[in-house]
Amino acid sequence: MSDAPSAVDWTGDLSVNVKLIDDEHKMLLSVYNDLVESLQRHDQAAVVDKVMKELFAYTQYHFGHEDELMSSYGYDDIEAHRAQHAGFVDRLHAMEQSIAAGQDTAEHLAEFVRSWITGHIKVADRKLGTFLKDRLPPDGFDFANPEVGVVP
Ligand SMILES: [Fe+2]
Repeated sequence: MSDAPSAVDWTGDLSVNVKLIDDEHKMLLSVYNDLVESLQRHDQAAVVDKVMKELFAYTQYHFGHEDELMSSYGYDDIEAHRAQHAGFVDRLHAMEQSIAAGQDTAEHLAEFVRSWITGHIKVADRKLGTFLKDRLPPDGFDFANPEVGVVP
């Protein structure tokens, strides 16, 4: 198959100019890269499934933080941004079911994740970053429930 996913290193062109979001994007890409490695090693399905679940969990954790930031600062494009996040999560779950049914592959899912995340960061998250940049306190943001969804 030619859809073998490739690892993505976080580089400056993925910056949204807000450190705490950039840091979470770095972590998200690192979990994505774990999935790529697992696929390259031809790990057993159970192992791939575990890494995929970690990716889903960190995605939800990170989306939760972006959501909290958007609502805390009254981001005017919040509904459209939320809809993008929700659409991504729905698609992941649909693909996960298709993989379980043997109708799709983890490689295809990884490729979708890579393309969606990098595209979303460069447009929607960068727009959010521009909005948040001068509003966030310099010492960071105190999230209401920072442990929810954290990958152990
Ligand atoms: Fe986002």
